[in-house]
Amino acid sequence: MKKKILVTRKLLKSNEERILKLWNAHLNLNDEVYSSKKLIELSEDCDGILSSIVDKIDAEVIKKLPGKVKIISNFAVGFGNIDVNAAKEKNIMVTNTPDVLTDATAEIAMLLILATARRATQGIKRAREKNWKWSADFLIGRQLSDSRLGILGMGRIGRAVAKRARAFGMEIHYHNRKKLNSDLELGAIYHPNVKSLFSVSDILSINCPATDETKNIINSETLKYFPKGAMITNSARGDMIDDDAILQALKDKKIYGVGLDVYKGEPDIHSGYLNHPEVFILPHLGSSTEKTRTDMADLAIDNIEEFFSTQKCKNSVN
Ligand code: DGY
Repeated sequence: MKKKILVTRKLLKSNEERILKLWNAHLNLNDEVYSSKKLIELSEDCDGILSSIVDKIDAEVIKKLPGKVKIISNFAVGFGNIDVNAAKEKNIMVTNTPDVLTDATAEIAMLLILATARRATQGIKRAREKNWKWSADFLIGRQLSDSRLGILGMGRIGRAVAKRARAFGMEIHYHNRKKLNSDLELGAIYHPNVKSLFSVSDILSINCPATDETKNIINSETLKYFPKGAMITNSARGDMIDDDAILQALKDKKIYGVGLDVYKGEPDIHSGYLNHPEVFILPHLGSSTEKTRTDMADLAIDNIEEFFSTQKCKNSVN
């Protein structure tokens, strides 16, 4: 008998077709965001769930999931939406989709860096309003070449950002819990703590996972470490930034600009960012290319297939 799967969000057509060939699947054709209650109800009789980052699968939800559910395959590399320990206690495997979204996310990180440095928010607005004329000092921005890029979190995505930024002539610095081997560092300079990294970051790119350790790592204290007029960009998770503190630093001109693709409490965005001329915002587009979204869903499907046939999965995170 075919296994039964709940797919919590609408996927691209080719992925849904593959799922229907493999399993008896409940697809979310209207792409509704399910409440916890509905997610639990729809999981009845399911052997697995293919979830997305907007499904909050905390300990309470996990407790109430039917005992038949044995795998939650998250359609994302991040898995902060799932209580992986609670899942482990209930003998539910949680998997993610690493690697396949590295390039797309690094491209968005570069977009944030470029747009923040070159004041794209104001440039787009002035062009749309036809409210501009060329002059030697019109919307002067910052140049990336010969500036220092700090990368917080030199994992796969951080390293892909480093590679691209190097091509722009930037000097790369990074902080990780551990120094990388020199073949992975490719000339980037290691800093054993954030104070040291932030103090040399003309621009910071946040690329680390959201953990208890990194939550609000950008706060009123750590903002003091940056050079005056530094820029901060975030393509990882909103949890890392204390929004009020960064908005105050912008007001004080300690920070020159901010570029964001991710937010605390998405899809909400702190109102202070919305019309700020030196803040460039995007709606969590990091992995949003056809190739990447297709590959991510394929990997989420592969993870379930691997689990059903071996009871193991190389992309297990718990
Ligand atoms: C991820 O995979 O964690 C991305 O943020 C999803 O878009």
